[in-house]
Amino acid sequence: EGNKLWGGRFVGSTDPIMEKFNASISYDQRMWDADIKGSKAYVKALHKAELVTQEEMVQIRDGLDRVWGEWSSGTFQIKPGDEDIHTANERRLKELIGEAAGKLHTGRSRNDQVVTDMRLWLRDAITTLKGNTVQLITTMVERAAVEINILFPGYTHMQRAQPIRWSHWILSHAVALSRDVEQLEEIKKRVNILPLGSGAIAGNPFNIDRELLQKELDFDGISINSMDATGQRDFVAEFLFWGSMCLMHLSKLAEDLLLYSTKEFSFVTLSDAYSTGSSLMPQKKNADSLELIRSKAGRVFGRCAGFMMVLKGLPSTYNKDLQEDKEAMFDTYDSLHAVLQVTTGVMSTLQVNQKVMEAALSPDMLATDLAYYLVRKGMPFREAHSCSGKAVYQAESKGVPLNQLTVEDLHTASPLFDSDVSSVWDYTSSVEQYSAPGGTARSSVTAQIEHMRAWLKVH
Ligand code: ARG
Repeated sequence: EGNKLWGGRFVGSTDPIMEKFNASISYDQRMWDADIKGSKAYVKALHKAELVTQEEMVQIRDGLDRVWGEWSSGTFQIKPGDEDIHTANERRLKELIGEAAGKLHTGRSRNDQVVTDMRLWLRDAITTLKGNTVQLITTMVERAAVEINILFPGYTHMQRAQPIRWSHWILSHAVALSRDVEQLEEIKKRVNILPLGSGAIAGNPFNIDRELLQKELDFDGISINSMDATGQRDFVAEFLFWGSMCLMHLSKLAEDLLLYSTKEFSFVTLSDAYSTGSSLMPQKKNADSLELIRSKAGRVFGRCAGFMMVLKGLPSTYNKDLQEDKEAMFDTYDSLHAVLQVTTGVMSTLQVNQKVMEAALSPDMLATDLAYYLVRKGMPFREAHSCSGKAVYQAESKGVPLNQLTVEDLHTASPLFDSDVSSVWDYTSSVEQYSAPGGTARSSVTAQIEHMRAWLKVH
């Protein structure tokens, strides 16, 4: 066990199965850049604390640059004893510069090192995901602006409800995604806090300048308590929840589009670029992109729930259980990074079949408007609802569309119906009633677009 970082007190060797079980290098090597950044800053602080000489600092920093070069050119060789990215980098540093490498870890523990690496890695990942989400929202908002004239059936309980603007539907999803961006910004504030200088549990005994570390690594703040800093992974859990919530939003969008793209609906046609075929049925064009967006929601929810179970009941401070944080974090990032880009592609290439959408509107969807007609003649809404319901029943019994009932027919439902009831049977004037903020009238949808454009300018 002589070559292990922690081998001193051991006489027996590790079972090879345990060695493999214990190692995280296969996945935590993704943090190689963050790990080297953290070490380069730490050696500066060690020098300031007079624990390494100027010469040793230069030697260590140059050596770390060489290790960095190997990773970035893909020539870094992982060796069998490399337990994780931290041990691998230190092992290689020692090979390159010799004994001076042994001073780098003074007062540091992998407990404060790993969580520093993760925070550095995650803050960049968050910046990328924010950019991906903003791009998707931009695509959706601009599409909503172009297609504002298109009307189509709105559904509740998946039953035909009321006519709405297609843009109103697009914006409903964009608005939800804007909250995801805002939440990501909140999370980033809590992620970008420096844990380095916390040691294993008790802190740092060498009067290390943590403000120097903060500045060097561009953190927004310094962790307050070393036990909290090394033992908490709430920032990871928050990110996993964020991914779950964002994918919940996107799976709703995907599910709507899957339905709208069936032959039975034919409201939209998915671009070939985001569809696949069947190996057996030549006619098939499957919306695999949308199905995978939907499925990733399940996958990432699972990561979030799984990691919460790991955290539940852990005692204070670092426990090896926490090593499970990284695969959940990376997988959530990878899933979201892919899904957001694919969704942007789907939304920017989607073909809308305006004629089919508008032909799918039917007079029964104006039954609410028929009640509002009576309300405007002074009838209390409850009563108007019932009268309109009677008219619907009458039309169904006669087997005619609602707008084909004569004024005489309608009189059996209410004497307030008059020949001007014909003005109800117009889909455009129907949607134009909904002009209060948030509604589906042109003025209101335009205001939503303007609101989102202004929001995009500051995000
Ligand atoms: N690979 C470990 C992890 O990912 C690094 C921290 C190890 N610390 C320790 N005390 N064994 O959590």
